[in-house]
Amino acid sequence: MPVRRFGVSLDEEVLEMLDSYVDTNEFPNRSQAIRHLIEQHTVEKKWMCNNEVAGAIVLVYDHHKFDITKNANEIQHNYHHLILSSQHIHLNHDLCLETIAVKGPAHDITILADKLIALKGVKHGKLVMSRA
Ligand code: NI
Repeated sequence: MPVRRFGVSLDEEVLEMLDSYVDTNEFPNRSQAIRHLIEQHTVEKKWMCNNEVAGAIVLVYDHHKFDITKNANEIQHNYHHLILSSQHIHLNHDLCLETIAVKGPAHDITILADKLIALKGVKHGKLVMSRA
């Protein structure tokens, strides 16, 4: 398959994380590590069909940034039928930890999680699911 190059912009902090991931797992270079991460991500998605699942979306974000509280709230209202509960913890002056318990078709839960995790300002986001 032909190889194409593209530019990636990363915070210095994230780049350091990538480099330490490359070192720890002995990837020959950053490209291989990124390829592995993308493949892993895609595999995790493959089983996500219309199975009924329950799980949690965990978000860590800086509430000062990019209207994130408002945006996250709006998304959650649009998907209220999938959300069982949500818990918001003020970790410190800047950071919030939000845990959103969800239940519904895996496909829909994945879309909701992707929208939240992709919000500008989210430092860490993860969806955990189990068959319900
Ligand atoms: Ni908070």
